[in-house]
Amino acid sequence: MNKQKVADLYEKKNKGERFSLLTCYDYTMARILSKTDVDMLLTGDSASQMILGENNTLNISMDMLTALTKSVKRGAPDKLVAADMPFMSYQPSIERALINAGRFVAEAEADAVKIESGWPQVETVRAAADSGICIIAHIGLRPQSIGLKGRPKAEGTYAEDAVDLIKLALALEEAGAGFILLEAAARETAELMQSRLSIPLIGCGAGPSCDGQVLVVNDVMGMFDGPAPKFARKYAEIGSSIAAAANAYHEDVVSGAYPQDTESYHIKTQEKQKLDD
Ligand code: KIV
Ligand code: NA
Repeated sequence: MNKQKVADLYEKKNKGERFSLLTCYDYTMARILSKTDVDMLLTGDSASQMILGENNTLNISMDMLTALTKSVKRGAPDKLVAADMPFMSYQPSIERALINAGRFVAEAEADAVKIESGWPQVETVRAAADSGICIIAHIGLRPQSIGLKGRPKAEGTYAEDAVDLIKLALALEEAGAGFILLEAAARETAELMQSRLSIPLIGCGAGPSCDGQVLVVNDVMGMFDGPAPKFARKYAEIGSSIAAAANAYHEDVVSGAYPQDTESYHIKTQEKQKLDD
């Protein structure tokens, strides 16, 4: 496979073709996904839930996400890989945001950096874009704002909110964002947004009018049996396959069917004689 570039996704959008993203948090999964047609991998801060077992995305560090992003890039060197800026890695100041976004690019070799963006982040996105970083500006439902909102809920379901959201998307595009990612929003709002934007719109539960779609890989593969949003379509039952394999292994260990002679090492022939003596 040729090394993928951000420009390839722009070309797809211009040709009216859609593209796909999946989250990915580790080297082994990245190696598997590197052999697929999926267009971009995102090391999301959802790693806090999927890897660390937290019940929100607030408690994960730059160090951790840098290490995970690096492992994904190693496993899928030809794929586009985006890193997700964790809570408080960019909110305190533009300077902090640039240092951390730059770390993802320089240290983890991320091709793009995602920032949950409200109006205060427009200038952060501008500064990062001015520094040459491809930014995915994440709007709509922003899980890092759970403290403010209380609970996750769909966005842009009222006309006034829809207009505000579209204005924000256009401001982020003007600031230099490479992509807009819209999470959990009314499909009608997404459709209008997509028609106004020049840059690609990635949807995560934002309906069929988006240029690209992103889902959490654990949901898609059926590896996570916790709560999932209604837009998280399951394409496999990997969790059940893993459990069945683990039980089959356990049974063989208990019955003595594992390991067989071919799965064992042997003492050297001439040494065996010495043992027998
Ligand atoms: O962290 C994440 O997984 C995300 C996407 C699902 C958009 O932000
Ligand atoms: Na995220």
